Order: sequence, then structure tokens, then C-alpha cells
Amino acid sequence: MADAGTSGEARAEGGDVGGPLLDVRAVGVTVGGVRAVEHATLSLREGAFASLIGPNGAGKTSLLHAISGFYRPSAGEIHFGGRRIDGWPPHRVAASGLVRTFQRGRVFARLSCLDNMRLGARDHPGEQFVANLARPRARRRREAEVTSEARELLAAVGLGPKADDLAGTLSGGQRKLLEFARALMCRPKLVLLDEPMAGVNPTTGRQVMERIAQLHAAHSLTVFFVEHQLDVVMAMSDHVVVMAEGRVIKSGPPEEVRSDQAVHDAYLGSRRRREAVGRRGDEALAARAPGRDEAGLR
Ligand SMILES: Nc1ncnc2c1ncn2[C@@H]1O[C@H](COP(=O)(O)OP(=O)(O)OP(=O)(O)O)[C@@H](O)[C@H]1O
Ligand SMILES: [Mg+2]
Repeated sequence: MADAGTSGEARAEGGDVGGPLLDVRAVGVTVGGVRAVEHATLSLREGAFASLIGPNGAGKTSLLHAISGFYRPSAGEIHFGGRRIDGWPPHRVAASGLVRTFQRGRVFARLSCLDNMRLGARDHPGEQFVANLARPRARRRREAEVTSEARELLAAVGLGPKADDLAGTLSGGQRKLLEFARALMCRPKLVLLDEPMAGVNPTTGRQVMERIAQLHAAHSLTVFFVEHQLDVVMAMSDHVVVMAEGRVIKSGPPEEVRSDQAVHDAYLGSRRRREAVGRRGDEALAARAPGRDEAGLR
């Protein structure tokens, strides 16, 4: 395990199974003129079930966008499976085995669950138009394979009976599971999940996370998920990376992160700023400083 420093250069190594799979080195991301991420460095070991936490606006989503190819980093390097991937477009990153889901869910409501799944296949038949014209039998075989994989994964997340239903008829939690299952269609090594519990009630959110944890184990996946529910984060992850104001400020096992002063300060600082925005200036200054455990980490 690398050092678990408290500077923006803190280094993270998630989990303890196998060698490093993802290496993010001093990455910067600028969005609309805003420096959303600065000098972020972390690495994830193969097999990790790691989380990324931090107050609103810390840069978590921006970092995920950079890792998955949706944003081009303004600085630094990203290595995945030993290859440098920064600057690659998202489809190339995905084809190399690194996929992600979005903070605001993206399922196609007017397609069946099965069709949503088929769209997640690495080489779904629609993408191979010319080749398919030339080899109709091979295309039919591949279609059958994709459909069977899709059904298997839907069953694995508990959506087997819903395969032919429109995705628009699913509950919030079921949509989350459909998105996760679809991400697995291209047989990734690493899945980035941006707030897999957001928008559903806490009980459903926990059930979603439990399913994800089951598939992590069954498919030898590495998972890196952003989440605000700190009790779930601390209970489920084997490694926690903390961002604040665009920087990685801490990384380590949950018990180490939970008791870290810089992490508490980051959460409390963010809470105070939010409170200050909601009050007039002099009221905010007079507000009582909250206790340390109000960060929700203890
Ligand atoms: N499209 C954008 N245009 C301008 N600024 C942006 C854009 N997207 C993000 N930012 C800014 O970049 C910073 C990091 O945002 P980001 O969405 O990555 O944070 P986050 O940690 O995911 O927050 P949250 O927990 O609220 O999802 C914030 O200051 C945000 O305002
Ligand atoms: Mg976000």
C-alpha cells in the first residue's frame, strides 16, 4: 500500500487483490474554465471494491469523466491495464475494458430491458452492418450469443422476469440495476459507478449495492463507485479515496479514512460554506461551529 498522505498528491491503491489496474497520475481537468480536478493521483488494484467520496463539487464526476474518456485531461496521465489511455475516446476506453455509468441514469425507456442490454454489447450486431451483410449466419449466431448473455446478466441482477418489459416501466432501483447490468455486457475489467444509489430510497439503494457487490465477486470485477451515503461506503468498500476542492486529499482503508482529520475538515468546511450561502453574512459568522461527528463519518 502506498502512502496515505493528506496532500493533493495523496496516492490511493484500492483493495489488495492482484496488481494495479488503474493508475491516475497528477491528472487535471478543466471544465468550462473551472479547474474541476487538480493533480489527482490514485491507483486501483485489480479486484478492488473501492469508493470515491467528497463534498458536492469536489470533482468526483469530473474525474470519472476523465478516466472514462468523456473529458480529455488538461494535465497528467491515465494508465489502464498497463496502457496509457488519456486522450482516447470513450468507446475505445470501453472496448479496452473500462466502462462507467452516469450520475443521472441513462436507460432507454421505450426499449425493452433486453434491447437496452443489447445496446451495451461490445460489438452489438447493428455496429457491424457491412460485415453482417456479408455473413448473415455469423451475425445470427452473434445475435443469439448477445441475447443469451443479456438474459443471463438480467437474471443475475434480479431482472430476469422483466427482460421483455419496457425499461420505462421499471422502478428507480431496477433502472439502476439495468444500467449496471448493461455496463457488464462488454465484459469490462473495471466499472466506474457515479452514485449508484442516487434517486432511490435508502433501502432500495442498499439492495442495489448488494447486487453490485455480488456481481463484483462473481465476475472478478474491479469497482470504483462514487457515493454520498457514507455509512454504506464505509461498510462496503475495501478502499476509500477522498476528494475535496478538486484534489485527492486522502486514500486508504475505510477505518483510516473515517478517523482522518483532513477528511472531517473537508466535509465540515463544505457544510459551513453551504450554510453560509443560505444565511446572511453576519448570521453565518455567528453560527455555532458543528461538532466533528456531524460530518457523518463517525
Ligand atoms: N459543465 C460544467 N461547466 C462548468 N463547471 C462545471 C461543469 N461540470 C462541473 N463543473 C464544476 O467543476 C467542479 C467539480 O464538479 P463535479 O461535478 O465533478 O463534482 P462532484 O464531486 O461530482 O459533485 P457532486 O457530488 O455534487 O456530484 C464544480 O466546481 C462544478 O461546479
Ligand atoms: Mg458528481
